[in-house]
Amino acid sequence: MKDISELVGFPVTLNDDGTLTFGHGVLSPRPEARKLKDASPVLLYPDQGGPETLYLMYRGTGLEKDQNAMINSGLRFDLTVIYPGKIGSEYVKTFGHYHPLAPGQAFTYPEVYQVIHGKAHFLMQKGGDITGEVEDFVVADFEEGDILLIPPFYGHATVNPGNDFLVIANWIAREFASVYEPIRVRKGMAYYDVEYKDKSIFMPNDSYSNHPKPRLEKPKSFPELGLRQGVSMYRAWQEGAKLDFLVKPVLYQELWKSMGIEPGERH
Ligand SMILES: [Fe+2]
Repeated sequence: MKDISELVGFPVTLNDDGTLTFGHGVLSPRPEARKLKDASPVLLYPDQGGPETLYLMYRGTGLEKDQNAMINSGLRFDLTVIYPGKIGSEYVKTFGHYHPLAPGQAFTYPEVYQVIHGKAHFLMQKGGDITGEVEDFVVADFEEGDILLIPPFYGHATVNPGNDFLVIANWIAREFASVYEPIRVRKGMAYYDVEYKDKSIFMPNDSYSNHPKPRLEKPKSFPELGLRQGVSMYRAWQEGAKLDFLVKPVLYQELWKSMGIEPGERH
């Protein structure tokens, strides 16, 4: 058992079986489990064994007293527990998905993640949906407290390359459904994260026609968004970080431009 309240920002315990126990006054959603059989379309070795449960999603947590404020600002706070282990030599990962365009806007919804416990490899790719070429592939090798901004248009998946549970938090707009089909059709992201001689390597996924060299993302703070590395993203929001870039990405064109992202028309 481990108390992970400090980085989460409200009382939560990670249990030895990977479930979470929420403290008094905390919204306690039932976890949605993703099983090995659910993930088989996106695995490098779908016929090999692995942990039966790959990850648990607790969508819509936070303090009960903050619930109205979260709803009114169109935001949701989630926790995900990704189990340690491998399927063949591929590390346990989330299915991967893209986000849809925000209605009436020329950007897809962004997202922001923070590592709460364990080690994470976040994989992000721009383009690559169904038939397109991959324009950019990013790997973020992140540790506890590190924050990752998923910009508009980037598909993403999270890998647990460690020997312990990986717990991640995310802030996201409440009112949309993720787009899984392109990742399903392509049998995963453009690279598989596999263990080779006790180290992580990235194996190209043959379902894609091109494979840009993975670009390594460094952890950093986002002072312009009120988010700081090592500081709970939930507390940051309580203390005034507006996070409306998650709901109205079109208002943050300069930020996206600084990341090389122009308005687009996909999904
Ligand atoms: Fe997402």
